[in-house]
Amino acid sequence: MGNLAVVGLQWGDEGKGKLVDYLAGQFDAVARFNGGSNAGHTVVIGEKKHTFHLVPSGALKGKELLIGAGVALDPIILQEELFLLPDRVREKLLIDGRCSLVSPFDKELDIVLEKMRGDSAIGTTRRGIGPAYAMRALRLALRASDLLVEPNSSAPSQFYSQLGVDPKGFAAWVEESKRVVTGLVGDVGSRIVDIGRAGGSILFEASQGTLLDLLHGTYPFVTSSHTIVSYVPASLGIPPSEAGEPLGVMKCYTTRVGSGPFPTEIQDLTSDKIRSVGNEYGATTGRPRRVGWLDLVALRYAITLNGVKNIAVSKLDVLSEVKEFRACIAYRHMGSETRDFQRSLGHLHEVEPVYESPFSMQGAKYDEELPAQAKKLVEYLEVALGVRVSLISHGEERSRTIEL
Ligand code: GDP
Ligand code: IMO
Ligand code: MG
Repeated sequence: MGNLAVVGLQWGDEGKGKLVDYLAGQFDAVARFNGGSNAGHTVVIGEKKHTFHLVPSGALKGKELLIGAGVALDPIILQEELFLLPDRVREKLLIDGRCSLVSPFDKELDIVLEKMRGDSAIGTTRRGIGPAYAMRALRLALRASDLLVEPNSSAPSQFYSQLGVDPKGFAAWVEESKRVVTGLVGDVGSRIVDIGRAGGSILFEASQGTLLDLLHGTYPFVTSSHTIVSYVPASLGIPPSEAGEPLGVMKCYTTRVGSGPFPTEIQDLTSDKIRSVGNEYGATTGRPRRVGWLDLVALRYAITLNGVKNIAVSKLDVLSEVKEFRACIAYRHMGSETRDFQRSLGHLHEVEPVYESPFSMQGAKYDEELPAQAKKLVEYLEVALGVRVSLISHGEERSRTIEL
């Protein structure tokens, strides 16, 4: 088994957490490579639901857990998360010393900037992600390794006090953060190379989705890190040859949390039904997710960008409760039709989706075998997207997964 990279193909919440937990048994370690506690990855085992924000979703499979340099690490959220998990999870965790930290100042700034944006607010998770990555680019971020040296002598700490951040509060945060990460900080890149040399393999876990990528997503309504597979080696500090095969994850409809263009969005009884059956509420913020039909134009773009050959499709059970199934095959804009997502990016809020309704998924029942409707969907997606569907998810619980 080689390395594998699970990436989201839509606007996040595709079911990456469930899939990573499901697949983790086949790997030696699971590594997060992007984002921060803006992520909410849900794993359901029996009646018990776990939401991961920073800890890789392989935690409940007892795997080695790695948080790569490209992650924005909020030590306080990490502490809260570890508190809810068995002690052995902490023992499995290694955080790269180059992770920039999310400070309370970054979180305040996130809220202030959103207010200043007014009607053009991005609808961030308010987890301080944008400011933390901005501080990294300004070379003013504190990094995990900085916590292990005398804090007040570091340049970022002095800068924060000049910005008017209360030095006492800041020092208290540094002390608390130090307690959280002590014993966990190291070099994740070298660890991954060592695991590979010993014949082991790694599962890379993306947060967010391709359309939220800082460079290639629906800018400016995106997150502040890179969500695509190309970021795996850059973030973790490993050679591109170790980045592994990408496995794309998508829902069989579309959701989005926060603002920004969403061509196939629907706001009617069907979207209400999908939201309630699919429990479409943000795992991090609890906000209702915006709901829409499947968007093949956007998916083809995401598949090309990530070089995806295999996909996992989630939420098939939700469509069992819905009469209709629609897929957007093109966008109409100023009288002409296009299937080019990239060229539509500048006017995505103005395009009109062109739909087809090839079949209905209503009433499909899932056992070990795929029902006929689901087989149709798999065949349809394989032709429309030019990929192989290798996994189906038909329920939130871990076991509600079918390998094809
Ligand atoms: P992630 O951010 O990609 O890990 O996805 P989230 O965990 O934020 O959102 C996915 C939601 O759908 C969670 O509540 C999951 O428990 C749930 N889920 C995942 N797969 C399925 C599925 O196949 N069917 C249903 N009904 N729920 C699913
Ligand atoms: P997972 O990993 C869905 C969205 C926010 C907002 C935009 C910017 O669970 O799929 P940020 O706080 O990152 O500055 O917010 O990105 N967003 C997500 N949407 N799933 C996520 O993560 C998200 N992380 C950020 O809603 O629109
Ligand atoms: Mg999520």
